[in-house]
Amino acid sequence: MGALGSVESEFSIVLVKGRWVLDSRANPTVEVDVVTAGGGVGTAGVPAGASKGAYEALELRDGGRKFQGKGVEKAVANVNEVIAKRVIGMDARDQAEIDRAMIELDGTPNKSKLGANAILAVSLATAKAAASTYGMPLFQYLGGKLARVLPTPLMNVINGGKHAGNELSIQEFMIVPVGADRFSEALRVACEVYYSLREVLLSKYGKGAVNVGDEGGFAPPMRESREALDALVEAIRRAGYEPGRDVVLALDAAASSFYTDGRYRIDGKELSREELIDYYVGLVNEYPIVSIEDPLDEEDFEGFREVTSRLKPLGVQVVGDDLFVTNVKRLAKGIAMGAATALLLKVNQIGTLTEALEAAFLARRNGLNVIVSHRSGETEDTTIAHLAVALNCGQIKTGAPARGERTAKYNELLRIEEYLAGEAEYLGIKAIKGSL
Ligand code: PGA
Ligand code: ZN
Repeated sequence: MGALGSVESEFSIVLVKGRWVLDSRANPTVEVDVVTAGGGVGTAGVPAGASKGAYEALELRDGGRKFQGKGVEKAVANVNEVIAKRVIGMDARDQAEIDRAMIELDGTPNKSKLGANAILAVSLATAKAAASTYGMPLFQYLGGKLARVLPTPLMNVINGGKHAGNELSIQEFMIVPVGADRFSEALRVACEVYYSLREVLLSKYGKGAVNVGDEGGFAPPMRESREALDALVEAIRRAGYEPGRDVVLALDAAASSFYTDGRYRIDGKELSREELIDYYVGLVNEYPIVSIEDPLDEEDFEGFREVTSRLKPLGVQVVGDDLFVTNVKRLAKGIAMGAATALLLKVNQIGTLTEALEAAFLARRNGLNVIVSHRSGETEDTTIAHLAVALNCGQIKTGAPARGERTAKYNELLRIEEYLAGEAEYLGIKAIKGSL
């Protein structure tokens, strides 16, 4: 033990070490270790999106020839040479202060100088190092004793849009295993539906249909949303479950990716905003869909207000991902306008844990749901599993139950459920509809 009055606590950061590692698309990404004087170690890796929102914080890439310009040597150097100097000696528990220090050091509105990837890796690794110094799991360090809700997973099992080499315009067709009373049961149900879906696709579309996309979902050669939705309903039944009761559906349209000049090019048709909204209402009336993310272009707050006014009375959650980019300013505007009923929370859209938590709290204070989310490019990092439980937010989006970077999160949630034992809760459909 140090002498009385010693400045160095066991939570003092003594080492910050950045490196590049690979993400699930073979692209380099930033990973950071933070070590405290008490021997706490936190390691965090940064994910990367493909259908990124235009207003996301900047992911710093090297350009040039190496890795086709996608290298992160500059971001890693910013960690090791700039950020480390500033945060070494700070107390790892002072998350807000450390995040503020990095934001100031960067000095730009979108973290473009140091890179949101550099800053986020340090931010997350700091929280993990503090938790580790306490000898506590991250979800309890962040969420306290009340953190006990295991999230209902929205699992992307048919991939389209920018995540797959097929003709589907809608990016994600998700199954939501709501009819279970524990997370582990829900995960089992989802896996069984995933196996059945594989069989359905094989028999209808042949072998090429069961190749998987970026998030582990199948990427069948389909052209229309209804084909995907029909296959999901059939797969749920084939697995022995009741669509609408045991397993429901969710969509992420990621509509900015099929929007140009006021028109939406979806499934071979060209629709106006109004026609697209009618199209969603039609789908909701035909299929057990409980949630639609980014139904319209990311600039169209007014249109989002319109969609929300049509879908909310039908019990459907409207989620802002590219619309909000986990940014409190855009979220506050959306809340004032009634533009959505849920926030998709992606830590790397904003670049620090503190700002991501602020967005989550702002959403919750205003009655919006929060869904913690992965990116299509991921690492084995499991921080978001902990974050979902810490926030008791009740929903997570982390892909199909396949591919290691996706199962890393589900497997961590299984461990957390085991750790919480009798305390663990699973809300099922209430996590989505509770606030609607
Ligand atoms: P992205 O997609 O990670 O490629 O942005 C995920 C999403 O849109 O939710
Ligand atoms: Zn999305």
